Amino acid sequence: MYRTQNCGELRAENISEKTTLSGWVQRSRNMGGMTFIDLRDRYGITQLAFNEEWDTALLEKARKLGREFVIQITGEVIERSSKNSKMPTGDVEVKVEKLTVLNESKTPPFTIEDDTDGGDELRMKYRYLDIRRKPVRENLLLRSRVNLAVRQYLANLEFAEVETPFLIKSTPEGARDFVVPSRMHGGEFYALPQSPQTFKQLLMVGGMDKYFQIVKCFRDEDLRADRQPEFTQIDCEMAFVEQEDILQTFEGLVRHLLQEIKGISVEEFPRMTYADAMRKYGNDKPDIRFGMEFADLKPAITGSGFSVFENAEMVSAIAVPGCAEYSRKQLDALTNWVKRPQIGMQGLVYCKYNADGTFKSSVDKFFNADALKNWAEITGAKPGDLILVLAGNTKLTTKALSELRLHMGEELGLRNPDVFAPLWVTDFPLLEWDDESERFHAMHHPFTAPKPEDAHLLDTDPGKVRANAYDIILNGNEIGGGSIRIHDREMQKRMFTILGFTDEEAQKQFGFLMNAFEYGAPPHGGIAFGFDRLVALLGGEEVIRDFIAFPKNNAGRDVMIDAPATISEEQLKELTLAIQEN
Ligand code: AMO
Repeated sequence: MYRTQNCGELRAENISEKTTLSGWVQRSRNMGGMTFIDLRDRYGITQLAFNEEWDTALLEKARKLGREFVIQITGEVIERSSKNSKMPTGDVEVKVEKLTVLNESKTPPFTIEDDTDGGDELRMKYRYLDIRRKPVRENLLLRSRVNLAVRQYLANLEFAEVETPFLIKSTPEGARDFVVPSRMHGGEFYALPQSPQTFKQLLMVGGMDKYFQIVKCFRDEDLRADRQPEFTQIDCEMAFVEQEDILQTFEGLVRHLLQEIKGISVEEFPRMTYADAMRKYGNDKPDIRFGMEFADLKPAITGSGFSVFENAEMVSAIAVPGCAEYSRKQLDALTNWVKRPQIGMQGLVYCKYNADGTFKSSVDKFFNADALKNWAEITGAKPGDLILVLAGNTKLTTKALSELRLHMGEELGLRNPDVFAPLWVTDFPLLEWDDESERFHAMHHPFTAPKPEDAHLLDTDPGKVRANAYDIILNGNEIGGGSIRIHDREMQKRMFTILGFTDEEAQKQFGFLMNAFEYGAPPHGGIAFGFDRLVALLGGEEVIRDFIAFPKNNAGRDVMIDAPATISEEQLKELTLAIQEN
């Protein structure tokens, strides 16, 4: 038997018992005639004690152990002379009587401590060592707990987990596909699913009624902190439901997770239309942990003679609480911040609403105290607040002010990862005009139903049609999205026409779905959560990489196994893939 207990288990109650433990040598300390070793496994750390007075040979053997050696020990649990209240096992240590080296270890390329000296690439190359570190290990264990809690909630509601295929067909909508060449059908390719969207709809046609799957999805798109080329969704679909049923069911899921995982109970989630989110926060995934809503200053500045404002399509402001005392240096830093190429503004106008009720702005030449007081009223600024104003074209200014708002939220510590502010955003536009391809694209996907009251605009003003679609936002992150689907062949065909497909193309790409709609497709709808994002947020972070056991780096590579990689000429030939000649 390798162990009677794990390394996180022994307590004062166990004193004078015999124990056998197995684990890794985290650290050893030699002091005079004694050596102490921290033995680590997944469950914790236990201190091992060796003493020349007990056994000199054993002490010598212990002193030869290197970091990350795998050892097994047997000994007696004894009371520690200097207790460590920070460790659950800190009251005791093991007086070692027998030591077996199960495996040696080279010196690890970085320290296996909570704060490691390893850079990202090194940690990824030796991910199995990184996983021994507590922060990464805890993230993976959190992921496992969230996974279980999701299954419990959905199983309780009679959702059935059904697996859908990974080798499917490439389709032109959405992101780029990862493709897989077929050996048996030379020159033909499978694609890996970007999501099980069409399959889950077919399961509804198949009468499955309530489906879920915790499933890998694959998208060949540029990476970001919250994006990986392969990621996991909690994918769900229900038949005979309206939007309200879905919102209730999945709000319940998030509530269940917050309760189970964080012990936090949240009230009913607020809801906001897409139009309101854009107007108030310039963002379709607003972080509502704090205020600083956009205020339109355009009407208040007309006739001022300040040409930067007069000529701008949009002049909007936020009132930053308690920042009227910002120094020249701080204001310059903010100005430089908005001028960075990533933000792209020409400048920043500020107005201090001083605690004594006076105003001081960077545009005092154009605006007197009355005018600035009006700004304060429009923005809701109070004495002591700082009003920040951006002006320019609508698209750029909206984005910049939204970023500035988040930046100020961060600066003021208002984006507290222990606070959870979920939000539904509804009534998204159905379509988005794309200047490059000169056609409409589905904002969500082509299977999303228009709001019935807007359907009459489909032919006359498609850009105005709102979708029966919703996103779920947590702390400014889109953690999920879904919609009520089209379940009528004619409507689906019409949608493809609006998206620029010919009837033949639509039939070729999506005939299987439209045909299925002819055999009694029930009304249905669903949602998919980004599981990695959800787990990361529950873990208090926004970068998803360390919540995935074996993630890809920023260039989409797995640096541990070194993928992607070339394949042999033989394989290429077998797959009838042309060999590139230089
Ligand atoms: P959507 O494309 O919005 O919807 O995806 C659902 C959720 O998946 C997460 N997500 C990602 N997470 C990590 N890396 C990525 N590259 C990535 N891309 C998306 C996001 C997102 O909200 N089939 C539809 C859902 C439906 O209509 O039911 C779909 O896939 O959190």
